[in-house]
Amino acid sequence: MKFDAPAGPNLFDNAKIVGKSTPRIDGPLKTTGKAPYAYERHDVAPNQAYGYVLGSAIAKGRIVSMDVAEARAAPGVLAVIATTDMKQLPKSDYNTVPLFGGAAITHYHQAVACVVAETFEQARAAAALIRTRYDRVPGRFDLEKLAPSAPLVPGRDGEPGRKVIGDFEGAFAAAAVKVDEKYTTPDESHAMMEPHASIAAWNGDRLTIWTSNQMIAWGKGAIAQILGLDPKNVRLDSPYVGGGFGGKLFIRADAVLAALGAKQVGRPVKVALQRPLMANNTTHRPATIQRIRLGADKNGRITAIGHENWTGNQAGEDAENATMQTPVLYAGANRLIANHTAVMDLPEGNAMRAPGEASGHLALEVALDELAEKCGLDPIELRIRNEPTGKVPGNPKQKFSDRHLVRCLREGAAKFGWAARNPKPGQVREGRWLIGHGVAAGFRGAPTMKSAARVRLDGQGGLIVETDMTDIGTGSYTIIAQTAAETMGVPLNRVKVTLGDSDHPAAAGSGGQWGAASSTAGVYAACVALRRQIGAKLGFDGDTATFADGHIQVGNRRISLAEAGALSAEDAIEFGKFQKDYNVGTYAAHFAEVAVDAYTGETRIRRMLAVCDAGRILNPLSARSQVIGAMVMSAGAALMEELAVDTRFGFFVNHDLASYEVPVHADIPHQDCLFLDTLDPVVSPMKAKGVGELGICGPGAAVANALYNATGIRVRDYPLTLDKYL
Ligand code: MOS
Repeated sequence: MKFDAPAGPNLFDNAKIVGKSTPRIDGPLKTTGKAPYAYERHDVAPNQAYGYVLGSAIAKGRIVSMDVAEARAAPGVLAVIATTDMKQLPKSDYNTVPLFGGAAITHYHQAVACVVAETFEQARAAAALIRTRYDRVPGRFDLEKLAPSAPLVPGRDGEPGRKVIGDFEGAFAAAAVKVDEKYTTPDESHAMMEPHASIAAWNGDRLTIWTSNQMIAWGKGAIAQILGLDPKNVRLDSPYVGGGFGGKLFIRADAVLAALGAKQVGRPVKVALQRPLMANNTTHRPATIQRIRLGADKNGRITAIGHENWTGNQAGEDAENATMQTPVLYAGANRLIANHTAVMDLPEGNAMRAPGEASGHLALEVALDELAEKCGLDPIELRIRNEPTGKVPGNPKQKFSDRHLVRCLREGAAKFGWAARNPKPGQVREGRWLIGHGVAAGFRGAPTMKSAARVRLDGQGGLIVETDMTDIGTGSYTIIAQTAAETMGVPLNRVKVTLGDSDHPAAAGSGGQWGAASSTAGVYAACVALRRQIGAKLGFDGDTATFADGHIQVGNRRISLAEAGALSAEDAIEFGKFQKDYNVGTYAAHFAEVAVDAYTGETRIRRMLAVCDAGRILNPLSARSQVIGAMVMSAGAALMEELAVDTRFGFFVNHDLASYEVPVHADIPHQDCLFLDTLDPVVSPMKAKGVGELGICGPGAAVANALYNATGIRVRDYPLTLDKYL
């Protein structure tokens, strides 16, 4: 099904199942431990051996020698796969650097060996017997030193590295009110609960990998490239994923080493990346240095808006593009966007939940707060005064598809009780606690991607949906079941959804908050094809017949779905070229109340509120979970998360969950999340947009602004730890 915007009226406008809060159909499996994660799939292949990954002890250089004799002779050891025993494996299109093979080391904890043994403990003990000699060379590890000479790079959106509209410098120089500040965000780790894990088994030339991955079609392609296989001979299966956040968009060393190990020992091999390896072996969100310049007239109308970003990664390509939201959020005739990326020898920088915007809001939305104060304006009023009218301010070739940011701000202000806030910082005190309130706007693009599915009638009134779409804890199973149930008129409990198997039609996958919008539209397309097939078989028009309650109503003819027999249809949603004419985005207003201990600087978030505009909300219950989870992550980014770089040796020092701090329950107070009742007919037939990344765009800035309101101290270097307030 080709989709060309805008979508007209369709069955979802009178939906009975889509749009209703629906508990996750996989929820009971998960809460009872019956949803098997990759490493727990004991049943899929008998006689599994255990792999243990050894990471490089240097960040850059070469391996001079590896002595694995003692490890090979250790009890229970079946094989030692040493990187020096093979040529460097090809880099897939989806990875920044090769994952294994050869003597060259490009980052710390790069996989250099995998010991395969009868038990995990034997593999781990033997790995400790491997003696590796390295030739270490100096690397580029310090972003602050590298930033001044970092080159401009074009963005992921194809925008040039430096883009000027109007006369930015002139307008900024002439502005009556100015903000010119530098903000920094640190490297961050996805820190998902389930580590990267894979079980691999060969059947002749055919390789199956049971793994934990967000993007099955990419992963299958990557494995074929890396191992030199025909993609037809590769199967990936990832029905349950214990968190990804972007860290599982791409195949990692666990999958490659499980496959190599299984080949070598002639039996299935399972490999989970050990938690202390994950931060340096896999990808992370790269640090940023951002300069924001805002110029406004005395009434707070922005005349100049400049956002320059410096970041770094292995390949020097677009990394944490923190300027992504800046062309979209506010009006202003004179604009500057610049993105610089330094080539660095730290571990691979790549996507983490809302890559770019998550960091960008932590700067831009604080700068707006600073501008509001200088203009003597309420920060909500300042934002409303700078609401764009007409085309996208930073990209005049595009119009907005649908946008209700002002409504988010107004409805949020009413719900939060914003009017009671004292605009003067450091004034509100409860005993030893200083109290503050902050607001921030949020924007995240709502891309869509081609997405396919197969739907099958079982001949008894039940429906089976098959797609390689993943559910990374987000609720994909449920919204896909709701979509299929609605379109086919099948009760929700008669829909069986099978996800994550690369033998199924290729979906959009879980990334960039495109998953919900794209995969449900793909399932809708397959259901429409099935309705037409049923109609052709039974002699009616599948498009206009009413499918409801397990029956088809055609005029006064009533047919049970079981009568249609066992039929199967497959189709994909494909998006037309209209997309380039629109900026399709999601919007939010975020509010936070904080308390700061006047003596110790201890910060507590007291309450958080998000009001979101994301088109049709397919399942308010799981969408809310997405948003409040992202608010937790944004609170972490604001207050505590930081991979500490050892700039001498080039590694993240705090590479485990004991030392990489993420929020715990006690850090997170009352959270609330409201959705506007909007529809976006430009995004897809579902008129729905994702929210999984919207929720991390802005809450941290609202917390930062609240901390300023509480204390009168403006800290611009994240995380906002207590030492910076003393
Ligand atoms: Mo996302 S950072 O594209 O999983």
